[in-house]
Amino acid sequence: MKFDFDVPIPRENTNSVKFDGRQQYFGTTDVSPLWVADMDFAVPECVTRALQERLNHPVFGYTLYPESLYQSVIDWFERRHHWKIERDWILMAPGVVPSLYAAVQAFAKEGEGVIVQPPVYFPFFSAVTTNNRKLLLNPLREVNGRYEMDFAHLESCAKEGAKLLMLCTPHNPVGRVWSEHELQEVLRIARKYHLTILSDDIHADLIYSESTHIMLGRLVQAGDKIITTIAPNKTFNIPGLGLSALVIPDATQRKAMKQVFENLNVGNSNPFSVVAFEAAYSEGDEWLNALMTYLEATRDYVADYLQKNIPKIKMVKPEATYLLWLDCRGLEMGDAQLRDFFVKKCKVGMNPGIVFGEVGSGFMRMNIGTQRINIQEVLERIKVALQ
Ligand SMILES: Cc1ncc(COP(=O)(O)O)c(C=O)c1O
Repeated sequence: MKFDFDVPIPRENTNSVKFDGRQQYFGTTDVSPLWVADMDFAVPECVTRALQERLNHPVFGYTLYPESLYQSVIDWFERRHHWKIERDWILMAPGVVPSLYAAVQAFAKEGEGVIVQPPVYFPFFSAVTTNNRKLLLNPLREVNGRYEMDFAHLESCAKEGAKLLMLCTPHNPVGRVWSEHELQEVLRIARKYHLTILSDDIHADLIYSESTHIMLGRLVQAGDKIITTIAPNKTFNIPGLGLSALVIPDATQRKAMKQVFENLNVGNSNPFSVVAFEAAYSEGDEWLNALMTYLEATRDYVADYLQKNIPKIKMVKPEATYLLWLDCRGLEMGDAQLRDFFVKKCKVGMNPGIVFGEVGSGFMRMNIGTQRINIQEVLERIKVALQ
């Protein structure tokens, strides 16, 4: 087998948030860590090789973004997403979360409205509230175990004077890959009310076989105000290296974003993230295809296991991401009790759904980016604990 995702890789004592942060977050190290969104798999060999080559040079000084790095972004998105990006549109940035915060500062003034669609990755909320902007919630609707956008409500938020919509596409944690029809509807509303859209596409490459992800940026027309965040971090399991890119076709918006980073003097990279980023986007295709096959089999295993053995927990079938959104309302526990039950009785550390917004109450987020045996053992423990 060319890529063996079943090989266990001990991650304890590597300063890993997911493993070494268990005591702090769960009050015990005796839980299988299925929380923080990174994976327990070795990165593609092309990434390790690029890092090793860089290590062979013993000086780790201030580092430029080489043209070949930009080209790797252009080629990846053309090859994988049929999206033609121009060189000038790309702005390198630290992790994606700083870009969420920067976008709030660049495109809404203090007190102005920013729309967020819960349940959603929690920094979407803090990016707005920490910066004293007005949080406008446009909750997703759950329809027959699948999530949809509430467009009428989105339009009413836009009408209220919102300046920015923070879109998570594909969506963490509900796993939706938005259809072209849904994205066009978002664009229609944005055009009508002059909304800027921050499109967080960090999960764009983690798409299951039955779905096709469309980059919102690909649908842009002149006058649209769309900022896209991208990164190989989730895709290739290098989030600790902390480098991402923004794609901003509009020059004025690009300048506004750049200004926020310049105000903080954020812009330097490091020699390792640059080579890892470029290697992943240049040579990582085959590894990624194999990864998605593995994750899809795990996802389907969980769905089948729950249905047969633990029907009170329902999986919202993800169309993307290695994050499963588990509907645990059938267990009839409050959120604190639910968390305690999984930590103490099942010895599994997951993210409580409530941290993704009130609509996440009764849910848990399970990270399946690990050797399948770990997931099998956790499911078995949950089954026994419920008996
Ligand atoms: C939607 C989304 N955006 C951003 C991030 C984190 O990005 P970064 O680590 O590059 O700041 C995550 C991580 O889980 C995420 O799910």
